[in-house]
Amino acid sequence: MLIRNARLPHTKVVADIAIKEGIISQITPIPKNRDEKQVFEAAQDTVIDAGGNMVSPPFIDPHIHLDAVFMSDYVRPNLSGTLLEGIAVWGECKRKADKEIYKKHARSALLWYAAQGVLTVRSHVDTTVPEQKNIEALLEVREEFAHLMDIQLVAFPQDGIYTYADGEKDLRRAMEMGCDAVGGIPHNEITREDGVRDVAYAFQLAEEFDAFVDIHCEETGDPQSRFVEVMAKETLVRDMGRRTAASHVTAMHNYDNDYAFKLNGILARSGMSVITNPFDNTFLMNRNDGYPRRRGHTRVDELHASGVNVCIGHDSIMDPWYPLGHGSMLQAANLLLHTAHMTSASQIEALFDMITVNSARAMGISGRCGIEAGKPANLIILDAPTVFESLRLTPDPLYVIKNGKVISKTEPRRFSLTLGPTLGESRKSISLHHSR
Ligand code: FE2
Repeated sequence: MLIRNARLPHTKVVADIAIKEGIISQITPIPKNRDEKQVFEAAQDTVIDAGGNMVSPPFIDPHIHLDAVFMSDYVRPNLSGTLLEGIAVWGECKRKADKEIYKKHARSALLWYAAQGVLTVRSHVDTTVPEQKNIEALLEVREEFAHLMDIQLVAFPQDGIYTYADGEKDLRRAMEMGCDAVGGIPHNEITREDGVRDVAYAFQLAEEFDAFVDIHCEETGDPQSRFVEVMAKETLVRDMGRRTAASHVTAMHNYDNDYAFKLNGILARSGMSVITNPFDNTFLMNRNDGYPRRRGHTRVDELHASGVNVCIGHDSIMDPWYPLGHGSMLQAANLLLHTAHMTSASQIEALFDMITVNSARAMGISGRCGIEAGKPANLIILDAPTVFESLRLTPDPLYVIKNGKVISKTEPRRFSLTLGPTLGESRKSISLHHSR
């Protein structure tokens, strides 16, 4: 396969990308005066003309709950819009869902992801579901989708590890079944001490299973919630920075500035990643504020400026916590651009990394991710020429390519207008691309 006229991300370079046996074999920057006809004659295999649009590594969603997707119309609505009512509604849901429903919903979400260029997903799976049917279901779906998508599963104790008798046992069983990462939820334990034990047990289990750690940490507006510091300490003393992520971290938004400054430095030193989830946390957090109403995400700009590896997750697609969403990582980044004031040119470029290469680093797959000769030919061609335009237009990918094969195609977005005589022409076809 030859992809012609593809703009490389974060650069002005337009190149041809040759793919052989599923691997990127060559990237050739295009000289300004080349003979287009000759290129077509030379190419024997499939040729895709990217037309100056940007090629990128596929998107990654490092934080979703595939066992909960599409459950928002399966149970009663979350009327308060709070995290805690979401957990209560999910509790009702998991008592009545069967394995087939989990599988059906997860498959649908994964197809949406693949169509929108998301080819790597990390999903939390609730270890406190009766008989862990959801975990069985997702392990089977992971197998079914192995040729299309890389899926990591996180054993996630939604109700807490120490709020009932068998929490540790259930978490361990999920790891034995084949999960890739150990989760936790210290802020949902009943006491501070149990929250600290929650974090410690997750790290202990991860070391035992040679697994990742990805803990729901401080998904609360409570400025007294202080468990990310416990995670950072465990990460540092066990030297597990490359394998550890703290998800949500929203309490940090509300911390005292001096404490947040200290914590920022420790997080950067630990090497752990932070995964922020703009859709859910804008929706769920700080519901008790009245006015002024604080924003429900972590200190994204400060963490990024300190050198912390920040990633963006989608978190929910139509579930008891967030009834909207369709799996667009560009839309998640676009929302965060506004709410986190990530608006400078370099911050906008950084947002794109937060849905691609930063997440690859958090998931331990950087070696396979990137538009470079010798790497697997996993890439997408966006209906936009630059990172800035991708964030502005949030377009669907025109092509999604996995191991050198096109797995999804979309037509460029165009509008056909019927105009009045004063505009000089009766019909016009336009796109939302901005030509300077
Ligand atoms: Fe989550």
